[in-house]
Amino acid sequence: MADIESLLKEKRVFKPKPEFSRQANWKKSTINEYRRLGAKNPERFWAKMARENVSWFTRWKKVLQWKAPNAKWFVGGKLNVSYNCIDRHLEGDNAWRRNKAAIIWEGEPGDSRVITYGELHREVCKFANVLKGLGVKKGDRVAFYMPMVPELAIAMLACTRIGATHSIVFGGFSAESLRDRINDAGAKVVVTADGGYRRGAPFPLKPAVDDALKGAECVEKVVVVKRTGTQTEMTAGRDLWWHEQMQGASTKCAPAKLDAEHPLFILYTSGTTGKPKGILHTTGGYLTHVTTTAQAIFDLKDEDVYWCTADIGWITGHSYVIYGVLANGATTLMYEGVPTHPAPDRWWEIIEKWGVTVFYTAPTAIRTFIRLGDEHPNGRDLSSLRLLGSVGEPINPEAWIWYNKVIGKRRCPIVDTWWQTETGGIMITPLPAGVDTKPGSATLPFPGVDAAILDDDGDEVEPPNGGFLAIRKPWPGMMRGIWGDPQRFRETYWSKWKDIYFAGDGAHRDKQGYFWIMGRVDDVMNISGHRIGTMEVESALVSHADVAEAAVVGRPDAITGTAIVAFVTPRGGVVYGDTLSKTLRDQVAKEIGAIAKPAEIRFTDALPKTRSGKIMRRLLRDIAEGKESVGDTTTLEDYSVLARLRGDE
Ligand code: WT7
Repeated sequence: MADIESLLKEKRVFKPKPEFSRQANWKKSTINEYRRLGAKNPERFWAKMARENVSWFTRWKKVLQWKAPNAKWFVGGKLNVSYNCIDRHLEGDNAWRRNKAAIIWEGEPGDSRVITYGELHREVCKFANVLKGLGVKKGDRVAFYMPMVPELAIAMLACTRIGATHSIVFGGFSAESLRDRINDAGAKVVVTADGGYRRGAPFPLKPAVDDALKGAECVEKVVVVKRTGTQTEMTAGRDLWWHEQMQGASTKCAPAKLDAEHPLFILYTSGTTGKPKGILHTTGGYLTHVTTTAQAIFDLKDEDVYWCTADIGWITGHSYVIYGVLANGATTLMYEGVPTHPAPDRWWEIIEKWGVTVFYTAPTAIRTFIRLGDEHPNGRDLSSLRLLGSVGEPINPEAWIWYNKVIGKRRCPIVDTWWQTETGGIMITPLPAGVDTKPGSATLPFPGVDAAILDDDGDEVEPPNGGFLAIRKPWPGMMRGIWGDPQRFRETYWSKWKDIYFAGDGAHRDKQGYFWIMGRVDDVMNISGHRIGTMEVESALVSHADVAEAAVVGRPDAITGTAIVAFVTPRGGVVYGDTLSKTLRDQVAKEIGAIAKPAEIRFTDALPKTRSGKIMRRLLRDIAEGKESVGDTTTLEDYSVLARLRGDE
């Protein structure tokens, strides 16, 4: 509540600049028209977007078939994502794009590649043929465990070309996480690389795949991209080099005519239980959503160099590094490495080097750069920038103002975009030509999106009261389910209210109807814009023989937004201290990945519980934050635990 009060005191308003509004893809009049249409008849609005922004082999028969919680969009329509992202830019009036940069890739060591739409077409066709040759058929799953290299983009587009469903696993996840995801999706082929570059040195990826595949019987073949040239073990009969497979592969491969509801990809994300959820997205609705939002919100033009700093292993990378951007025929920049290597101004150097015009990043990165000092961005020419975006967590007003001043030079509109892995595309956002922005607010729902703040009973909450963020009507990019678990899909998202989507975030609206997102209301933490479930970390901790019990909470952190604090009860007789603390942190990294490592481990002989045995996380959160007095303790079973946890005894 204190957070929202300080946010709601934020009175600064930034109006769109006329110079920007005049040239925008979506001008004020268009925005108003679409808002009216989207409110009155969202299906008509989205159908118009699907017609105008996506190419179809066969037009749909029905815009929406909705039997909550199951949606089918553009029923009967046939299309292909790689055709939309590539082929249509090589034909007719667009044919000049043949030699336009589709992907500008910058490696961490400073090497780079520019891939034109024409070349992308050839490479994608070739890899599609390689996949076919390996026996991959329509509907088969292909898993990815890759660094940020162009081959990742090529291979995912190749999957879409033949109707294989991809499941990209972020390269920072551990072998065990990878194994779980491969098995859950039943992947037939894995695409990986020998490694990638991070902080000036190669890091290996293939050994984790070898590890993961001990216990993943579904996988038949592994294709390995040579990126670092490090010595790599290859299992005969299973592992194949990308470059050898591509040699001689045909550059012709007709795009499959896929059903609008054909499974496009699965992407795993954390939930409130230990097991990650395979979020399923399909073809026609998803592509309509991401293409339309990219055109409207990022104002993509042919002259733009657009850079979204997200890794393709996250939803932001799927929707707004690749699909939504290429479908618009725009140029997307991909960077392989860390933001501060070899110097703290690497990102700003990249903007200067390639003349980046539209830049989309996360608050945690912005806060890191604030700390590093203004001299780094100030030492580079950022005058090419014309629009800035933010995603992943609420942006604090100080970070917003810095972004506006130091990076945008007070010239660039900022779009703070709220959405989720589950929503597929952006849901609440400013439209740069038509919405006044307020630092810290994602502003208003995108046209055709029916977002609201509801209370427990599903009644709309009057401003300025807070409540749960909900989406009341289906939208085209919405998830179609949790892979293999329809019951969990229902329970997680559709059981709080009848036929209304529960997003898991708390939010408020102000008098102008602006949304202020406050963060998760469930047991999911947001670490640097990435979701980690408390239960996942807890189960990684208790799997260690020395641990009897563990409870994990998030505490506010100036850079990462939230930091993980683990309260651990060691087994009787175990000697605990810094050594065990380090062992446990490594254990979490091994089981989940380095991003889930607790910032702090506190040992305790007991955890605060209710009389029914439920761990009182709320109290632990207060303690982790160092609050003097903790909240309501009337249901606490053993009062002495609290004092011991705070170190009073
Ligand atoms: C959660 C979704 C798709 C974006 C990348 C993260 C938080 C995301 C914002 C924003 C406030 C935000 C929410 C949401 N979030 N964007 N602009 N303002 N909060 O995707 O891993 O699926 O996480 O990120 O809490 O529920 P994700």
